[in-house]
Amino acid sequence: MFVSKIRHIQALGARWSSSHYVTTPIFYVNAAPHIGHLYSAVIADAHCRYQRLRYPTTTVRLCTGTDEHGTKIQQAAAGHKVPVDQYCDEISARYRDVFKAASIAHDDFIRTTEQRHKQAVAHFWHRLKSRGHIYSAAYSGWYCVSDETFLTDSQLRLDESSGTRYSLESGHPVEWTEETNYMFRLSNFQDDVRHWVKQEARVRPAKFEKILLDTLSEPLPDVSVSRPANRVHWAIPVPNDDSQTVYVWLDALINYLSSLGYPNEEYLAYWPPAQQIIGKDILKFHGIYWPAFLLAAGLSPPQQLYVHSHWTVDGQKMSKSKHNVVDPVLAAKQYTMEGLRYFLLREGVAHSDGNFSHVKALRILNSELADTLGNLLSRACAKTLNPHQVYPASHVEHLPQLLQDLDAAKRLQEALLQLAGRCEQHYECNHFHLVADTVIATLHAANNFFECAKPWELKANGKTPDAQRLQTIIAMTMDALRLCGIVLQPMMPQLTSRLLDKLNVPSSERSWHHLNASFATGKQHNHQLDNQWSALLFQRIVEHQDKSTQEEQQQSSPSQSSKRSKTKKDQKAAKTIS
Ligand code: MSP
Repeated sequence: MFVSKIRHIQALGARWSSSHYVTTPIFYVNAAPHIGHLYSAVIADAHCRYQRLRYPTTTVRLCTGTDEHGTKIQQAAAGHKVPVDQYCDEISARYRDVFKAASIAHDDFIRTTEQRHKQAVAHFWHRLKSRGHIYSAAYSGWYCVSDETFLTDSQLRLDESSGTRYSLESGHPVEWTEETNYMFRLSNFQDDVRHWVKQEARVRPAKFEKILLDTLSEPLPDVSVSRPANRVHWAIPVPNDDSQTVYVWLDALINYLSSLGYPNEEYLAYWPPAQQIIGKDILKFHGIYWPAFLLAAGLSPPQQLYVHSHWTVDGQKMSKSKHNVVDPVLAAKQYTMEGLRYFLLREGVAHSDGNFSHVKALRILNSELADTLGNLLSRACAKTLNPHQVYPASHVEHLPQLLQDLDAAKRLQEALLQLAGRCEQHYECNHFHLVADTVIATLHAANNFFECAKPWELKANGKTPDAQRLQTIIAMTMDALRLCGIVLQPMMPQLTSRLLDKLNVPSSERSWHHLNASFATGKQHNHQLDNQWSALLFQRIVEHQDKSTQEEQQQSSPSQSSKRSKTKKDQKAAKTIS
C-alpha cells in the first residue's frame, strides 16, 4: 500500500514538466494493419487522452507513422509487382485510415521516406561518426529479413531435416551473410545502458526490465549499422559513402527525433520522450540499441518504455499463412470501432498475451456496453419516467431519505466518491483493464440502485413527493452515468462524447476535475437533455443464425443442437473477422 502510494506520487511528479511526448512504434508497410498494430496505437492514444484530461496545462504530443525502408519492404513490393514507393504510399495510407477510423489523435504521422526524416538520419549518423562510435569492419552472421536483424546462435532454431535455420522470435528463416559494414560500438555502452534500465519505473511492466537486465548481464557485441547498397538499396544512403545504406533499425528509431524537427533545436521542447509504447518483440531495439545510440549521440534516452504483450487469435499467433489475421476494419463492422477499442483495452494486459476471440468480444461488449452502460442511459431517459426529458436536480429532503432507506444508494455514493482516485491510479500505470473494472463496478452499483429504488412505482407528474423522489433517483443515476462517461473518455472518445452530449454536459465540464461534482459531494445539475441525440448508446450485437444452422438444429436433439450451433457460430465469426 505504502509502496503503491509512493509510486503514485512519483508518477504525478513526472507530470510537473510542461510537455509530455509519447510515441508508438512506426509500422512496417510490408502488409496491412491488424489488431495487434492497432493495439499499440490505441494504448498510446488512450494514454495521451488521459494526460490531456488530467493535466490540462501540459502539452501532450503523440507521434506515430510508418517504417518504410529495408529488404522486407523491398521484397513485399516486388511480391505484389508494384513499384516500391507506390507500395509504401498505399500501405502507409491504410495505417493512416485505420488510425483515423479508430480516433487515434496523433499530432504527427511520420514516414521514414520523408525528406525531413532523411535529414535527421544523416545528422544523427554524423554525430555518431564524429564522436568515434562507428567503425568499418568485415561482418558475417545470420540475417533474418522478417526481423530485419542479425541473430546470434542462441536466437536461432535449426531444422535438422532441411538444414534451415529460423528466428526463434518470428519463426522466419535466416540467411548467412558476409559483408563489409559500418559497426556501432555497442559494447562501450553496456554499463550506461544497464544504469539507465535500472532507474525506477524505466521499463514497465517490470518483467520486461528483467529481460533487459538478463540480456545486459552478458557482454554486448557491437552491432552492424549499415548494409551494402547493392544488397539493400531501398534505404537511406550512408552520408559520404554511397556504397552503404543505413541499417533499417537505426533509420527507424530516429523517427522519434525527426518528428520533433531534429536537429533543429525545437525538438528540445519535447525531448526526451515521456513514454515510448512498444510491443514485446521490439524490446531489444528500444531497450538496448536505442538508449545506446542516444547516449552515443549525447542525447537523453526516454523516461519510460511501456511494453505490451501480443494478441493471439483463438490461442494461435496471428499469421497470414494461418488465415487468422484480424483486420480492424472488418472487426469494427461487427463491434463498432469504439467497441473494438474498448475490447482491446479492457481485455489486454501488458504483461501477458491476450486472446482475441469473437465469443469473448460479444460477451464483453454486450454485457458491459449494451446491458450495463447503454441500458441504464435508456432507462433514465425513458419518456415514461422522464416525461420532460431533463437531467434533474435531486431534492434536498429526498436525497438523504434515499441514502437512508437504501443500502444500494449508499453503495452508489461510496463508489462515486472513490471513482476518480481509483481510476487515476490505474490510468497513471496504463492499467486500462482496471479502469474498466472500476467503471463497470460503479455502473453495476448504479443499475442496482435503480432497481432497488423502483422509480417505475412513482408517479412522474406534478410537484408531489412521488415526483420529487423520482427526479432524485434519475438525478443520482445520471450523475453516475456522467461521471463514468468522463472517466471513460480516453478509452472510447466517440461513444462517451455521445453519452455526455445526450446528458447535455457542456464540453467545458468534461475534464478530470469535474469528477468532484455529483450528488455524492452535494453538487447539482438541472437542465434539459439534448434530444438531438439518441439514448441508444451501444446496440446489442445479435448474431443471426444462417439457414443451414437452423435446419441442422431442427434435425438434431436439443442438447446436440445447442452444441453444434455454437461451433458453427464460432466458425462464422472467425471467417468474418479474418
Ligand atoms: N517497424 C518496426 C518498429 C520500428 S519502431 C522504431 C516494427 N513494426 S511492426 O509493424 O512489425 O510492429 C509494430 C508494432 O505492432 C510493434 O509494437 C509490435 O509489437 C506490434 N504488434 C505486432 N503484432 C502484434 C500482435 N499480434 N499483438 C500485439 N501487438 C503486435 O516492429
